[in-house]
Amino acid sequence: MSKPASRYVCQECGAVTAKWAGKCEACGAWNSITEDAPRESAPKGLGGKAGRKIEFVGLEGSATANLPRLLTGIGELDRVCGGGLVPGSALLVGGDPGIGKSTLLTQATALLSAQAPVVYISGEEAVDQVRLRARRLGLAKAPVQLASATNLRDIVSTLDTADAPRVVVIDSIQTMFADNVDSAPGTVSQVRTCAHELIRLAKRRGFVLFLVGHVTKEGTIAGPRVLEHMVDTVLYFEGERGHQFRILRAVKNRFGATDEIGVFEMTDAGLSEVLNPSALFLAERRGNVTGSCVYAGIEGTRPMLVEIQSLVAPSTLSSPRRAVVGWDSNRLSMVLAVLDARCGLALSGNDVYLNVAGGLRITEPAADLAVAAALVSSATDVPVPADMVVFGEIGLSGEVRAVAQGDARLKEAAKLGFAQGLVPASPRRGKAQAAGGPLAIRPIGHLQDLPGLFRPGA
Ligand code: TYD
Ligand code: MG
Repeated sequence: MSKPASRYVCQECGAVTAKWAGKCEACGAWNSITEDAPRESAPKGLGGKAGRKIEFVGLEGSATANLPRLLTGIGELDRVCGGGLVPGSALLVGGDPGIGKSTLLTQATALLSAQAPVVYISGEEAVDQVRLRARRLGLAKAPVQLASATNLRDIVSTLDTADAPRVVVIDSIQTMFADNVDSAPGTVSQVRTCAHELIRLAKRRGFVLFLVGHVTKEGTIAGPRVLEHMVDTVLYFEGERGHQFRILRAVKNRFGATDEIGVFEMTDAGLSEVLNPSALFLAERRGNVTGSCVYAGIEGTRPMLVEIQSLVAPSTLSSPRRAVVGWDSNRLSMVLAVLDARCGLALSGNDVYLNVAGGLRITEPAADLAVAAALVSSATDVPVPADMVVFGEIGLSGEVRAVAQGDARLKEAAKLGFAQGLVPASPRRGKAQAAGGPLAIRPIGHLQDLPGLFRPGA
């Protein structure tokens, strides 16, 4: 019998090739392709053997639909999961090393252990390290069943019982090891096999499975990207290292809305929920500063106010700098081009810095107008009124377009004491004004009206 040929797998995206290459053709990553174990057997047809008959059922009625969702008691986490954890589901918690994944899951399991049996399996840290963290968090007394293990076979045999726990945490999936797969832990085939087995077990035994996954840019560890289609929910934990804020973002959720975010603050005693993120994001704002503007955004289902800061300065470089933190740099280029072409505000000779204060990353186009306002304010040296919130999308001809959920944005602004809203001029403005309550609405239809709006006495 001939030896099965080796195959080569990209550790970033999981693409399989027959030959080694320096660059993956599928995802463009460099140096990410490694030799992987040969396939156990080449796919043969079905060979005429009869399979077992599948039972078909109707759409109505399900055992799991009636099972109540498990609430962790951490409101931000429950909301991001779509209102609690669904029994039998698998969640992937991704994020950079050190961002706080183990901390969050230690806190969640400790709270859950009061209502259901919970197992925490750490493949990264020894039992004592996990205990140390629990003690630091003041949770050492919680009845979580803790183990340090990496062998998939042991873990599956232990958990595959009728009295399986209700919640299982695997920290992290990259450290798990299936002994029937011939490659090192952390490679795509190991990660995939381990995740597949654990997810099948979770579905069969009806427990909630949390898989922790590291996202790294280097090739040796499989990014959790390959797992995204296998799990029910994908949560990413983001945040700047230097900032205390952490954002938990749902990017896929079979049981709830995506784009929902939870805001946490990393403190000495672990992660604490931020119940009023707008107030927090605006806490360090100073009034009447040029280049600063408050944007009324929507993150998931929640309105959120954030400060957008910009600095426009003369440049000595032949191609001036464009530095963006927390927003899309292509979108900034577009706003700059529209300001130049439609409003006669040429900033091509200036360095432009844009920053979303507090470490939040904004993806909504509704922030266009706020970015433009911050840029215009910095360039013309006239502050945006401190009690004004701004939102609206900008089109290429300079028109300001209406965005969804205008009233929710204005309501949040009114709650935080803002007095004016610079909003798209739209036919539905009357309704928004009613919802905006005490807010004075200043409609704007075209970007060229923007510079005149902030002039004193305007
Ligand atoms: P950790 O949960 O270990 O990160 P991950 O599992 O994502 O790799 O968190 C590590 C960081 O969090 C570490 O830099 C220390 C910090 N931290 C606190 O600031 N306060 C705390 O109470 C804890 C437990 C950790
Ligand atoms: Mg960890």
